[in-house]
Amino acid sequence: MPDMGPRPTEEISDLLVEDRTFAPSPAFAKAASMRDPDIRSKAAADMERFWADAAGELDWMRPWDKVLDWNPPNARWFVGGRINASYNCCDRHVENGMRNKAAIIWEGEPGDRRVITYWGLYREVNKFANALKDLGVKKGDRVAIYLPMIPEAVVSMLACARIGAVHTVVFGGFSAEALRDRINDAGAKVLITADGGYRRGQILPLKHDADYAVRETPCIQHVVIVQRGNFPLRVVDKRDHWYHRLIQNAANYCPPEPCDSEDPLYILYTSGTTGKPKGIVHTTGGYMTGVHATTKLVFDLKPTDVYWCTADVGWVTGHSYLVYGPLAAGATCVMYEGAPDWPDRDRFWGMVEEYGVTILYTAPTAIRAFMKWGADWPKKHDLSSLRLLGSVGEPINPEAWMWYYEHIGGQRCPIVDTWWQTETGMIMVTTLPGTDAMKPGAAGRPLPGLSIEVLNAAGEKVTIGGGLLAITKPWPAMLRGIWGDSERYRTQYWSKWDIGTYFAADGAKVAPNGYITFLGRVDDVLNVAGHRIGTMEIESALVDNPAVAEAAAIGIGHAIKGQALVVFVTLKEGYRPTATLESELKDHVVRKIGAIARPERIILSADLPKTRSGKIMRRLLRDIGEGRVLGDTTTLADAETVNHLKQAYEEGEE
Ligand code: WTA
Repeated sequence: MPDMGPRPTEEISDLLVEDRTFAPSPAFAKAASMRDPDIRSKAAADMERFWADAAGELDWMRPWDKVLDWNPPNARWFVGGRINASYNCCDRHVENGMRNKAAIIWEGEPGDRRVITYWGLYREVNKFANALKDLGVKKGDRVAIYLPMIPEAVVSMLACARIGAVHTVVFGGFSAEALRDRINDAGAKVLITADGGYRRGQILPLKHDADYAVRETPCIQHVVIVQRGNFPLRVVDKRDHWYHRLIQNAANYCPPEPCDSEDPLYILYTSGTTGKPKGIVHTTGGYMTGVHATTKLVFDLKPTDVYWCTADVGWVTGHSYLVYGPLAAGATCVMYEGAPDWPDRDRFWGMVEEYGVTILYTAPTAIRAFMKWGADWPKKHDLSSLRLLGSVGEPINPEAWMWYYEHIGGQRCPIVDTWWQTETGMIMVTTLPGTDAMKPGAAGRPLPGLSIEVLNAAGEKVTIGGGLLAITKPWPAMLRGIWGDSERYRTQYWSKWDIGTYFAADGAKVAPNGYITFLGRVDDVLNVAGHRIGTMEIESALVDNPAVAEAAAIGIGHAIKGQALVVFVTLKEGYRPTATLESELKDHVVRKIGAIARPERIILSADLPKTRSGKIMRRLLRDIGEGRVLGDTTTLADAETVNHLKQAYEEGEE
């Protein structure tokens, strides 16, 4: 008889979820790799030792001389060490008896399948690394990757890592203009893209967008095209190369570059509080140590697991927990190209059953969508292979947590609610699945080896109650900077309190037992369906349109997306507010940023509420958007504006 978990005495549906905690099932706890309840205090006693032991599980080409060199806000980890990320993700497994183990089980949206063993991955990475070299890519050069969720995306990343080139993956949902700006900021020499990719039965015309982008990227010398379908495209002589032809002609073995521990591994752009995305820089030795250790610890990864992280490689979750962490740990990873509701709403559950997935790591926005679609979809499939569930990207509300626990995990699987950021590179706060009780809605405690606190604005520690999340000691996978902007790195992250304390821009509250509940961003960054979007990016995209005088973007609560994007816009003289203009402006944002940033609503109005000093009152706009009774408007320059806006908003809602 399988162990059914903590078996609460009441029916799950009757539970007052806010007040319940759940222990891991005895069966899970007994089999878990980490069973030491004192691991956090042991790690805290000698943090450097803890991370040095973790680093020792990787293969180094030269040992480090010093674990940490901390000159706030600049850290160097495993100083003097030499290491190659692709060697750790491929070669060592091939050498250690896992040559024939599946590294990637891939499924395309139309239903095509590929299984790539560690040997197969090794082989392809070597060849493509040689091909990149043949195109003139050298150590330290930047390579942009704009691909759908196909194995070549992983191969491309690892091939760059193999030769010490720095990849910058741009999510396929970003527009041509967004791609262009990232390529130019990174100064990428080569762009790797595909003819297209499938999404809900449609084709994302990636090469088409890439062509548009590279018209204005003087740094790009070559474009590599993966043939995903047989989608029509234009091949530009000398500049464009088919991936499969390059592979055919490339030599089999490419020696892995002995990278310095602090050599950059990748740049990943993410949204901040200005209109310009930040190129977050991650380096090699510390990053690999952090993601490898946390993959094993948080997911209790075992050699027999079939691990599925549903994130796209275009986001940090894809980098750390689809590629570098699990492959360094020798996992079998499931990778899926398309949408969860294509052709039906049980696509994920069919795949879990088909491949015998044991670990599933996904996002609250997806869980809420599944919840809305109903439990009958997962019920159609045998999900008994699952033994652990994960959540990432935004706070998971207790109702969604319970649904996930009950209908996907069968009350048997622990859920790890993992808090982290593009900047942290690795999971920072969660529960250890074999030892820690879970509390729906609360992420858990800092992982071993980390120093994390909730502080008030003055920098004093909060022991119970709300404040701001702070990381008070360096950690191995921490960002090393913002590409080309060291000043912004210092001011954004390390200047809220003292120079050695990292400001995460997340509100958080802490319980007496140390459990942290995340309350969302405290800066102008939204989390729309798990995608990080800066309000300033939206606003600067809009004011670039000739019709727009001023724009204010806000996030309002949304049952599935978590937050939905609503923009208030005032028009320039001579433009009339019409439905056509509203949809034109939505398209304009999509063109500037991508479909992920399409505003749910645009409200065209004559004026925006401002303080007497001329600042837009965003809180007031949020009140309007969420239908709240308006607070104090006495500081407004023109209180009438608000009434007009409210009216416009409500009219549009019908
Ligand atoms: C939010 C994604 C609550 C948070 C890995 C953070 C979360 C931002 C959680 C980073 C979680 C991520 N609980 N909030 N488990 N995970 N967040 O850079 O606001 O895309 O600052 O990294 O997502 O988003 P990013």
